[in-house]
Amino acid sequence: MPAITPEPIMKIAMGFMAAKHLFAASEIRLFEALASGPASLDELADRTGVPSRTLAIAAAAMVGLGLIERDGDRYRNGDAVAAFLAGNPGADLRPMLRFFDKISYPTWQQLAAAVRSGQGQAQFGRFDKTEQQIFSAGVEAFSAPVAAALATSYDFGRHRRVLDVGGGTGSFLVAVLRRHDALKGTLFELPGACAVARQKLANEPEGKRIDVVDGDVFKDPLPAGHDALIVANTVHVFSAAHNIELMRKMRAGVEPGARLLLADLWTDPTHTQPPGAALMSGEFLVIAGEGQAYSEEEAGEWLGQTGWRKLERRPLAGLASLIVAEAV
Ligand SMILES: C[S@@+](CC[C@H](N)C(=O)[O-])C[C@H]1O[C@@H](n2cnc3c(N)ncnc32)[C@H](O)[C@@H]1O
Repeated sequence: MPAITPEPIMKIAMGFMAAKHLFAASEIRLFEALASGPASLDELADRTGVPSRTLAIAAAAMVGLGLIERDGDRYRNGDAVAAFLAGNPGADLRPMLRFFDKISYPTWQQLAAAVRSGQGQAQFGRFDKTEQQIFSAGVEAFSAPVAAALATSYDFGRHRRVLDVGGGTGSFLVAVLRRHDALKGTLFELPGACAVARQKLANEPEGKRIDVVDGDVFKDPLPAGHDALIVANTVHVFSAAHNIELMRKMRAGVEPGARLLLADLWTDPTHTQPPGAALMSGEFLVIAGEGQAYSEEEAGEWLGQTGWRKLERRPLAGLASLIVAEAV
């Protein structure tokens, strides 16, 4: 019989140290400082403006975690940080780390209180300008592969006008409209998020085909005249009762045959698979106050109760998948 060790517990319990080291290394621009090639500690201290002694602590942690390599007295970026955290062209996960560090991490300190009391902090609509910028950019970076996958894996050619409810910075609409010249889009978001979206969309050619409408899905009318609705990573910020209310309201605003596209971390009926979605439920609880990852079966029930017929579920990217429904 192999000896039982505390190793699995220790690894998980120390996980926050790994995450915080990563956030700090990205914040001091360690990976950017290594983007041009291997460097010594002194060269890195020069480039980052960080004292050698404490930089060595940060660099050693990154070596230990396998994110950078050390060869003699020189450090080099590993493949993953070179691709996603060094400021190279392509996907950029630095905004996601910033969001996890500056907004999620402090909020997670309330996890036990939220689990005990049944409710988290409900931060939406309460971010100041800086927090909103960090949140919106972070979520956009996190969900970029999902936006790209949705644009290619669903045929938007059948639609005229798409409404993205809780659409963040408009990144999903941009990805979709880029592939369909005739398609128009509407972004419906809380006012703080709309302010960030307007700035971003001003720099995108597709922005000219996107209307940005401020509103709260539970207090304001949804923009009319759409034959496809996207709800991406937003069902998970609401309670089950709120999701039923939202689906009913969306159904009332469209004609039969309209499509509802629910991109989210849909789980199995026990909410334990995929395991990453079970972890993210904590994030949705503490940040949104009432959210969690839901199962495909729960979504199917809500759709059935609110005038939608579930057509299919298909994979998107990472933990995310797509439920497609049609208005009956
Ligand atoms: C996790 S983000 C998802 C953003 C985007 N769809 C994506 O996948 O990147 C959830 C979004 O829902 C928006 N939201 C939350 N409550 C809302 C409400 N009551 N009305 C409208 N939007 C809301 C938030 O502002 C936030 O941008």
